[in-house]
Amino acid sequence: MRGESVVVVGAGQAGSQVAVALREQGHRGPITLVGDEQAAPYQRPPLTKGYLAGETDLAGLVLRQDSYYDDHGIKLVRGERVIGVDRQARVAVLGCARTIPYDHLVFATGARPRPLPIPGAEHVLNLRTVADADAIRERLDGQIGLDVVVIGGGFIGLEFAAVVRKLRHEVTVVEAQSQVMQRAVSAETAQHLVGRHRSEGVQILTGTGVAAVREGLVELTDGTVLVADLVVAGIGVVPNTEIAQRAGLAVDDGIVVDAHLRTTDPRIHAVGDCARFASTHAGGLIRLESVQNATDQATAVAAAIMGGAEPYTALPWFWSDQYDVKLQTAGLTNGHDRTVTVGDPAEGRFSVFCFKDERLIGIEAYNRPIDFLMGRRILESGTALTPDVVAQPGFDLRTSQQKKAA
Ligand code: NAI
Repeated sequence: MRGESVVVVGAGQAGSQVAVALREQGHRGPITLVGDEQAAPYQRPPLTKGYLAGETDLAGLVLRQDSYYDDHGIKLVRGERVIGVDRQARVAVLGCARTIPYDHLVFATGARPRPLPIPGAEHVLNLRTVADADAIRERLDGQIGLDVVVIGGGFIGLEFAAVVRKLRHEVTVVEAQSQVMQRAVSAETAQHLVGRHRSEGVQILTGTGVAAVREGLVELTDGTVLVADLVVAGIGVVPNTEIAQRAGLAVDDGIVVDAHLRTTDPRIHAVGDCARFASTHAGGLIRLESVQNATDQATAVAAAIMGGAEPYTALPWFWSDQYDVKLQTAGLTNGHDRTVTVGDPAEGRFSVFCFKDERLIGIEAYNRPIDFLMGRRILESGTALTPDVVAQPGFDLRTSQQKKAA
């Protein structure tokens, strides 16, 4: 389908990858990539890691130099919002009232921080964009020993806490659930992460909500009052679906797409954080908020626009860096009913194998990158591995697979 025009709404990791993959796959028609941030498309993961720590700057985050977009005939429109899509006329409408015609349109609108529904939320900073990270860095710059309260013990909360602790501030994490990172990892892994944070002097309070934030203070639902020079929240995100909804597409906690990432309009696809898709790995409709999902879905949609017919089945995986801990997860581990831990938890090197109905659904590798790599292969190939086999003394993923191959 060469020559057709493609408009990509949203210039994050997913949106920019749609444009890049289209050109890599030989698409010759016009491509317009519209993003509301001023920066060229950049990686978000370092925002809670090296960028926050001041180890890397914006130039180190951008995915491609400006010249790449010019050289590849990708029209990158920055600092502009698409405010509507007219499906009859097949045009995207920009905030400045200009319209861009399309043959195919891709929503890659991502997600935004979930608002904190409490009094004083205006005193709380979020961390999603480079502008958010700059605002936080400004508050921390040149200081040590500030009291920092982090609301939410998820990815952002824990990665942020680790960096800010290293910058020698006093950190308290307040997590509403009884376990940190409950959405993403098993209780075993969460417990070790909490232990690691506590050993660094970070206070982690679980099972406690935040009632209100006032200038310099955070009031918890159990009556505790924390002193806070800076309050940062990472309590999850909400997908940016409003434009799709106004355009009459199916939306249900995400823009609903089929196995080919197509919305209810065959000329419109959705990818990344904003897309709710049928996952063979989850066995139902899910949204995935990860770099892997953004880039893999983007590449798959480019192929679909080029006329491909393969459904999207990529194995989910993600990673998190906290202090010297590299946590890598292959597959989706939530919903497991049994875990087997392999390795040496006391030494901080272990993997949690997660099973559901005796079937391996995911592996959480805690400083065990080999288990992550091999786990991905096993899960991708659907090789059977039962909990009883993994629980045998001395079990090693490498040797077990070598024996199988022999
Ligand atoms: P998250 O869903 O990972 O964690 C949110 C946490 O906040 C949960 O533990 C939840 O129980 C807790 N929470 C919710 N409401 C609360 C409240 N009122 N008080 C206290 N705790 C509350 O979302 P997070 O950390 O905000 O991350 C946002 C997005 O960024 C996610 O999509 C995440 O996947 C992505 N991200 C991914 C990273 C990675 O893959 N390494 C790193 C940083 C962000």
